[in-house]
Amino acid sequence: MLQAAWSFGTIPSGVGGAVSKHIVPHLPKREGEKTMSDYVRNLWYLAAWDHEVPDGGMLSRTLLDEKWLIAGLSDGAYAMLADRCPHRFVPLSKGRLEGDVIHCPYHGLGFDRTGACVHNPFPSPPPTHVRARMMPVVHRHRGLWFWPGDPDRADPALIPDFAFVDRKGMQRSRLVIRGHYELVTDNLMDLTHAEFLHVTSFGVNGSIFSGSQSVLTDESGAIWNNWDMAAVAPPMWAAPMLREGERVDQWLHMRWHAPAAMVLTVGLARAGTERADMVVPQMVNPHIITPETQRSSHYFYDHEATPEAEALARQVFVEEDEPMIEAAQQALGDRDFWEARPAILETDAGAIRARRRLMQLRRAETLEVA
Ligand code: FES
Ligand SMILES: [Fe+2]
Repeated sequence: MLQAAWSFGTIPSGVGGAVSKHIVPHLPKREGEKTMSDYVRNLWYLAAWDHEVPDGGMLSRTLLDEKWLIAGLSDGAYAMLADRCPHRFVPLSKGRLEGDVIHCPYHGLGFDRTGACVHNPFPSPPPTHVRARMMPVVHRHRGLWFWPGDPDRADPALIPDFAFVDRKGMQRSRLVIRGHYELVTDNLMDLTHAEFLHVTSFGVNGSIFSGSQSVLTDESGAIWNNWDMAAVAPPMWAAPMLREGERVDQWLHMRWHAPAAMVLTVGLARAGTERADMVVPQMVNPHIITPETQRSSHYFYDHEATPEAEALARQVFVEEDEPMIEAAQQALGDRDFWEARPAILETDAGAIRARRRLMQLRRAETLEVA
């Protein structure tokens, strides 16, 4: 299938919604404020796509600066424990999963899905004071979502809607970007960079410069950064599907949920058809970011299950976006984003609104702890 600009597949959308327009100014930090290196805890984060956990096995992954293991259990559920035995700190994922019990490879203690020690290789009963840390984990939308905050508040209804991800013909993938997750959010919430960074890969032609941007908030709390271009020249890849000189209406809508769970919707319709006569079906793709460390991020995405689509996605993310985000991270070093006094442009409105929302969530958690 033809690889359309801005996307790695051609799937009809079910994602919609919007409410008010607003440009967000710079928000200075307050005294005692947490910096961008502090994670908001009471949120769902994506740990892995479900296919990444081997059947009846374990996956080890660094998330929010700590190693965690995800185990696939016999009843179809998953367990998420700190990948660090509480006895002498070796990775439990190097042990074995047997009968839903994770056996440490060093001295043989066994832990159940709650982190309780349920097996002692010696005749005495398992020590009740030894526990592995655990986190709530939920299997939804082909992903495994974890809640690093208060387990009593881990309501699965708060997981953002990514139901569209479960569809045929698509391959779900992950890569690591060497930059803070909010720098990756900046990249995705400000798609104007495509006119410079992705000119070849996406065949863009400057239409976004004549587009109108709106930043909106919907009833689910999502922030949308929308670009709408009316009656513009088509991108190069679409020209063969149109008559000579025919214009198109194009839209690029990015939805953001805290901490960094995004969906990009792209549409292209013949101009003057009220978006009814699409050149290709509307395209929708996940762009979900989870911090690995303070300076690196897991990037979860999907694309059509073809070698061409896979290669295009890697070109865009690995060869084009990644070096820019990494360079920004290196220039920033360990400084807080706001302390570096970034210039704020109108086109940053969506990215800044997302940063502001995270700042508010951090403040709220700081006040709860104080
Ligand atoms: S390190 Fe795990 S049982 Fe000793
Ligand atoms: Fe990009």
